[in-house]
Amino acid sequence: MVGDDADQGPPLPETLAGLAVAARARLPHDIWDFAAGGSGAELTLAANRAAFDEVGLVPRVLTGGGVDPSARLVRDAAAMPVAVAPMAYQRLYHPDGELAMAEAARRASVPFVISTVSSRTIEEIAKVEAVCWFQLYWLRDRSAVLELVQRAEAAGCTALMVTVDVPVMANRRRDLRNRFTLPDHIRPANLGAGLGMTSVKVHTDLVFDAAVSWADLEWLREHTSLPLVLKGVLDPRDACLAADLGVAAVVVSNHGGRQLDGAAPSAAVLPAVVDAVADRLDVLVDSGVRGGTDVLRALALGAAGVLVGRPLLWGLAVAGVAGVTHTLELFREELVEALRLAGCADVRSARELRTVSVRSGGHG
Ligand code: FNR
Repeated sequence: MVGDDADQGPPLPETLAGLAVAARARLPHDIWDFAAGGSGAELTLAANRAAFDEVGLVPRVLTGGGVDPSARLVRDAAAMPVAVAPMAYQRLYHPDGELAMAEAARRASVPFVISTVSSRTIEEIAKVEAVCWFQLYWLRDRSAVLELVQRAEAAGCTALMVTVDVPVMANRRRDLRNRFTLPDHIRPANLGAGLGMTSVKVHTDLVFDAAVSWADLEWLREHTSLPLVLKGVLDPRDACLAADLGVAAVVVSNHGGRQLDGAAPSAAVLPAVVDAVADRLDVLVDSGVRGGTDVLRALALGAAGVLVGRPLLWGLAVAGVAGVTHTLELFREELVEALRLAGCADVRSARELRTVSVRSGGHG
């Protein structure tokens, strides 16, 4: 079991920005770069933040009453419309890795998404008894895909999130500059032995299948009873294809600016995806969500909820399970306050808020 006591230290920073600073001070330089960095010139990484900042919320007034931030994400109840994004190799940041992250998700009553390349096995993580979804990278070996899916089902995962924006892994200049490789004791625990580890990119490109297509997704749908979530959709036409296939949710995402550099920021394309498919499936969003106000912005743009990535790694690095719990609490507090200030009683009324673009007066 993961405990809080391993992390006696100075008081935790009171802001998400402070947590990032503390994590950076604590982590080895190359691990910080691996997590914080993006692909190419990091244009999309920067644009993700700017796009959220450009969403001006138009509050309602005199709405009375209290605030309930609870939500339904895919088929699970959650205390707020937030899930922990799938992120590889969490033991890089803290010895408890995914176990600490899942335990904090359990305490906060939000879903935890297990990465295909987690550094603990699906079965170990499932013992924490958080609501777990499993994130699937399409492996070249189809029987290995099926085996992972069956393991996720047997472990009690309640959704299958297929990441579709990594046909190959993008070049991440920071990792190349640092010659970043995983330490010997950290491995993709679900993928068995024999996967010689060079750089993370070389490894990934050897193991992942770049030729995966809609036909494969149809095959997958026939081989699992779990609801499917497609992560990494930016074009409404792809969202429509997903809806046609009976997918339960899409995640509007550019992988946190780690794949196609120059890809549109998630917040900028979210409204078009919502318009195209929100009556047929749940639209989630990630990439650049940095607090409860951004969660409210995402809801106002029509999302059903968000995934949060890096801020939770910073919490993990700073204080393990206590750090991630604290980070999720900062999200919840800011969301509750933002809902209150915007005159929204709940997630449903937040999705009816209007927005304007603070730069160009768009949205509507
Ligand atoms: C990721 N992401 C990711 N996505 C995925 O589907 N499977 C994975 O294994 C990983 N691994 C991973 C590692 C690290 C270090 C990061 C930062 C990200 C992408 C992740 O799920 C999510 O899309 C982004 O992190 C969201 O952006 P923010 O919140 O980090 O800006």
